[in-house]
Amino acid sequence: MKDLTPQAGDLEPIETASIDEIRALQLDRLKWSLRHAYDNVPMYRERFEAAGVHPDDVTSLADLAKFPFTYKNDLRDHYPFGLFAVPRDQILRVHASSGTTGKPTVVGYTKGDIDMWADMLARSLRASGLRAGDMVHNAYGYGLFTGGLGAHYGIERLGATVVPMGGGQTEKQVGLITDFKPDGIMVTPSYMLNILEQFHKQGLDPRACSLKVGVFGAEPWTDAMRREIEAAFDMHAVDIYGLSEIMGPGVANECVETKDGLHVWEDHFYPEIIDPETGEVLPDGEMGELVFTTLTKEGLPMIRYRTRDLTRLLPGTARSMRRMEKITGRSDDMIILRGVNVFPTQIEEQVLATGGLANHFQIELYRAGRLDAMRVHVECAPDSTDEASKTAAARMLTKRIKDIVGISTEIDIRDPGEVERSQGKAKRVVDNRPKE
Ligand code: DLL
Repeated sequence: MKDLTPQAGDLEPIETASIDEIRALQLDRLKWSLRHAYDNVPMYRERFEAAGVHPDDVTSLADLAKFPFTYKNDLRDHYPFGLFAVPRDQILRVHASSGTTGKPTVVGYTKGDIDMWADMLARSLRASGLRAGDMVHNAYGYGLFTGGLGAHYGIERLGATVVPMGGGQTEKQVGLITDFKPDGIMVTPSYMLNILEQFHKQGLDPRACSLKVGVFGAEPWTDAMRREIEAAFDMHAVDIYGLSEIMGPGVANECVETKDGLHVWEDHFYPEIIDPETGEVLPDGEMGELVFTTLTKEGLPMIRYRTRDLTRLLPGTARSMRRMEKITGRSDDMIILRGVNVFPTQIEEQVLATGGLANHFQIELYRAGRLDAMRVHVECAPDSTDEASKTAAARMLTKRIKDIVGISTEIDIRDPGEVERSQGKAKRVVDNRPKE
């Protein structure tokens, strides 16, 4: 893999500023953001008043903990534009997430917000090892999803050439990568596996392609998956995180030279980790739910937004700003099986560690008598399709999941191509349990 470590002059001053400098900037911006929300969004004013807090009382970052949380449902309850803090004619763009149930959540951006987003995405791409003059293939979906346009503006802001491919049409993706020879690719990790498979189908060697780095996010993925993708393409694989409510992709990003978790761009997004049960703020280093407060967003300020994502905060390494550990999963995706908490990423790790299996899997939950049960549908590797290999792989995977994750599962080994392929965010869990 190519050495993509940044050179002096590649970074913005704030990326290597002292912690004191960063905290002082955050406090100033936090006061502005709380005031902006209080003055312009009736929900925030009512909530702050009900909680007996006022933006003017804030004298330290720790004071933020006195303010109430904001939840996804608040966006739904104020659908579509009720939480916007500026008149609608100052909103340059909206995005929306479909969600699985109910109304979509709508988010809006002023010109300043779009600008800041492009800056943060460009910073994320530099952290990933990309530079002005590079070419980036963007396979995140365009449209209401923030992935496509968010990445697109960031690539342009970096001064790189964007190939606005979007999601789907896997054959064409491979054709463009082969013909245009991009330096970087932006796509969900699960869809990258789909692209990898297409390389093989076309008889092409993925290691010989031009890609130096992939910037993967929008869904949880493991270090085991990173190793798999890096080996398959002979390129770096780094993690990009974000969510529409806070901005979109580019809230945090890994540095290619360390790959040790994602630096949160704390000059614009203030992170806290809380105990999801009690709401209490936890010290850095402890696992809990990630909560974000926007510090500079104009259109849709978010105060203590509950992401449902589980991680912990760690001190900065390659940059001064704190890191968040790679996300284990969302509290909504946590499966509780006979008292044991399980995340799809834990199953992914075991699938990838078991010989004779491909990297495509899906978890099915079902009811066996009165108890919940889990079945893992996973494909055998193309060179391990005989019955003996399948039986051995199933036995090994059952044992690994039992020993390491601590649950009993049924393993269903499928032939190559029989497990549903991801077109964007992978659907890792199919819940066939009867609805209560
Ligand atoms: O997925 C934004 C995005 C696009 C991020 C492209 C990165 C790349 P939403 O559709 O609002 O926004 O979904 C946000 O996706 O709360 C996490 O649960 C999950 N997620 C996003 N990035 C990661 C990541 C975009 N790197 C939700 N690792 C978030 C794990 C991620 N989960």
